[in-house]
Amino acid sequence: MASVHLENINKSFGSINALSNLNLEIKDGEFFVLLGPTGAGKTTTLRIVSGLEMPDSGNIFFNEELVNNVQPAFRNTSYVFQQYSLYPHYSVYDNLAFPLRSPLRKSDKKTIDDRVHEIAKLLKIENKLNNKATQLSGGEMQRVSLGRALVRDPNIYLMDEPLSSLDAKLREELRVELKKIQTDLYATILYVTHDQIEATTMADRIGVLKEGLLTQVGTPQEIYEEPNSIYVANRLGSPKINILDNKQIHNSQNSSASYVGIRPEDIKIDQNGSYNVKIETTELLGAETLVSFKSDTVNGILLTQENINVGEGDNIKIGINETKILYFDNNEQRMR
Ligand SMILES: Nc1ncnc2c1ncn2[C@@H]1O[C@H](COP(=O)(O)OP(=O)(O)OP(=O)(O)O)[C@@H](O)[C@H]1O
Ligand SMILES: [Mg+2]
Repeated sequence: MASVHLENINKSFGSINALSNLNLEIKDGEFFVLLGPTGAGKTTTLRIVSGLEMPDSGNIFFNEELVNNVQPAFRNTSYVFQQYSLYPHYSVYDNLAFPLRSPLRKSDKKTIDDRVHEIAKLLKIENKLNNKATQLSGGEMQRVSLGRALVRDPNIYLMDEPLSSLDAKLREELRVELKKIQTDLYATILYVTHDQIEATTMADRIGVLKEGLLTQVGTPQEIYEEPNSIYVANRLGSPKINILDNKQIHNSQNSSASYVGIRPEDIKIDQNGSYNVKIETTELLGAETLVSFKSDTVNGILLTQENINVGEGDNIKIGINETKILYFDNNEQRMR
């Protein structure tokens, strides 16, 4: 597989800057996730890597070789689309074998057969190889779509929200499997999604896209613990980070900050805490309880693993783990 380097990529559609000065380096064997909301430029990035779209300016390198003028078929990328795109009248076997039968490739029958079985086994669809594509459940169809991409040995796999059409349970299963397959194959993957769970569970590194701008790149832990803006802080974490006015914080350690960010797990119900608040709602989430609270000066959400014996309407005291407070300036940028 290959490393992929995007250098100063710009792409506009009329008055819309889909990508502005995008610089991105995906290492050989890396699972890189681009995370961003609708319209952020995720699909545009994939299309530019694959060669389906030309950038207005900037360079694309595969293994440090410039590929700007290389046609899509010769860039040897493997694309998984948002909606599955199977040949309905072909069997699962033929859908999987199809990319290998391309005249560009000239694989022999035995090689194709071995590879189809190997991938079908990885994706647990071996027993469906003789089914027509139309005789599959949605989850199985999406497995075959992934399989069709995975049978090939491309420079990079490009995946456009491939799990978004599946129900929560299947998504969870395929997330785990896809990560395992990527590790086993030592595959280079550029995966785009707006789903933070997909990003944090599968990515070696995450790039956060906002309106065509790459605002931060880092490991899931770096992005979660050290976000460089309120925008990024809001992208990871469920329940969301509390963003409060710095004035609401007692004895703030940073008097020039405008806002603070506090993760729900860094606020605790504490008899010695310095904030008096009233509980608005409580919500049991399995091992944890989510408590929303309010007072004249501060409101937010806390997450606790302890059994709580208080409920809606009760007055409690809370404490904030001050070492974990993130400070932001009036442009919502992180202060350090
Ligand atoms: N062919 C096109 N013509 C005009 N505008 C386009 C075209 N393709 C994309 N855009 C615009 O460029 C911006 C980025 O689009 P893109 O498809 O990359 O977003 P995305 O992050 O993939 O969003 P989604 O999560 O909805 O798939 C959007 O504002 C979109 O409307
Ligand atoms: Mg898209």
